[in-house]
Amino acid sequence: MNFDLKTLPLAAAAAEKCDLLVVLVPEGFKPGKDALSSLVALALKHGDFVAKAGKHLPMYQVPAVAARRVVLAGLGDSSARAVRQTLLALGSAIKAPQTRRVVVCFAASTVAPDAVNAAVQAVAEASYAYTTTKSKGEPRVLSRCIAGVPDATAVREGFDRGVALVAGVELAREWGNRPANHATPSLLADAAKALAKLPRIQCKVHGLAEVARLGMGAFMAVARGSEEPLRFIELRYNGAARTDAPVVLVGKGITFDTGGISIKPAPEMDEMKFDMCGAASVLGVFRALGDLQPPINVVGLIPACENMPDGRAVKPGDVVTSMSGQTIEILNTDAEGRLVLCDALTYAARFKPSALVDIATLTGACVIALGGVRSGLFANNDALADAMQQAGDTALDPCWRMPLDDDYAEGLKSNFADMGNVAGRAGGSITAAKFLQKFVGETPWAHLDIAGTAWKGGTAKGSTGRPVALLVQYLLRQAEAAVAPPVARGRSKAKKSVEAG
Ligand code: BES
Ligand code: MN
Ligand code: ZN
Repeated sequence: MNFDLKTLPLAAAAAEKCDLLVVLVPEGFKPGKDALSSLVALALKHGDFVAKAGKHLPMYQVPAVAARRVVLAGLGDSSARAVRQTLLALGSAIKAPQTRRVVVCFAASTVAPDAVNAAVQAVAEASYAYTTTKSKGEPRVLSRCIAGVPDATAVREGFDRGVALVAGVELAREWGNRPANHATPSLLADAAKALAKLPRIQCKVHGLAEVARLGMGAFMAVARGSEEPLRFIELRYNGAARTDAPVVLVGKGITFDTGGISIKPAPEMDEMKFDMCGAASVLGVFRALGDLQPPINVVGLIPACENMPDGRAVKPGDVVTSMSGQTIEILNTDAEGRLVLCDALTYAARFKPSALVDIATLTGACVIALGGVRSGLFANNDALADAMQQAGDTALDPCWRMPLDDDYAEGLKSNFADMGNVAGRAGGSITAAKFLQKFVGETPWAHLDIAGTAWKGGTAKGSTGRPVALLVQYLLRQAEAAVAPPVARGRSKAKKSVEAG
């Protein structure tokens, strides 16, 4: 789909030929003299329309308006959240088969870049269609979306960010949605290699021989039950000086999780194809970085394999040696995510990261704790935790910090190894995080448990592309902070907008 940004006052929006014109009307709207303004003012006056987020008034073939359909949409306080809410509430109109061209026009005197970013993302989210494995899959109908604003140069950055995020989120959704037989570890590796065509991105893929040489005994234990060969994917984005410590992202890439010998029950087991959504989010972040080219270094690590039951599969009670040298009693083969992650976390240390962030559909317990609204956030560093939480709130991809008291690690004790891979049922998302923490040492580390947020079940079944937006927001913030010291930052921004104007 093509997005365009245009300086477009309401008077000019009336002349835009399209199938759907969405007029975003903020609270306290000040009408001009044009036809659309008068229409909005009249509807407000009669109470047929209120400018609250999520409120709409649809109209058809309005005189003096070129669009076939017009929807007045309440914009409330004009925040990014309100933009998103009101456009997603229009989802069915945006996704309708007769909607090829949409114009979203901000009927406000000033618009924030974040609001335009939110608009671009919401239109993409509403119109997304998965087609890869459908023989008659109807591709996305929407082919063009114009964002109309009072001053295009003032919001260009937010618009570009939105377009890059759409590409990243849609890549993550695509790989999340693909069935496991169309998203094997090797195919994920190919997708990562394809990203290396983008500027400043490199990709290396390691197979079993290299993983064995590295001593990744926990990762190999999970993979050994499957006929599909494992892959260890290593992506790099080099946006800053080589001496700059990178942020390392580690994505859980279980392309299918049967549970292994500790096999899962049949109902809804198909959803375990989404168990690589952490990996997909890393791919999505790199896709967005390739577009945005921020001045920062990022490493992406993806341990990818299937978790299957087999004659050769790892068994409950087996003890394996992780790359860190710590031994693990695998009491439950369904707690496999932490096993592939722990070796990737150990490997990450070689990059001397400024921050280490892992992203994983790790525990059903996290779904119980936080549902599908906020991802679980665990961190051994308050500054990193605050930055992640802040990034999530800003990007409308929120997370919530959970505790890491050492008392939670009690249940991981084992009589036969340095640790077991599971504790009791209580506090399951926290004990999983405590397990991971044993592999990060003093490195500032955050763990995002996205089991509840990476996909939706039921009739809306499908991946969400979360938390790509959170992670990109975090990285852009880090890049900004690295380039401009806090005092100079305000000045350089002001200079930029003068140059742009
Ligand atoms: N991939 C699952 C986590 C999961 C379960 C995500 C349900 C979304 C919905 C993970 O590998 C797993 O099976 N975790 C177990 C851990 C348990 C054995 C300690 C779980 O959550 O039940
Ligand atoms: Mn599992
Ligand atoms: Zn899993």
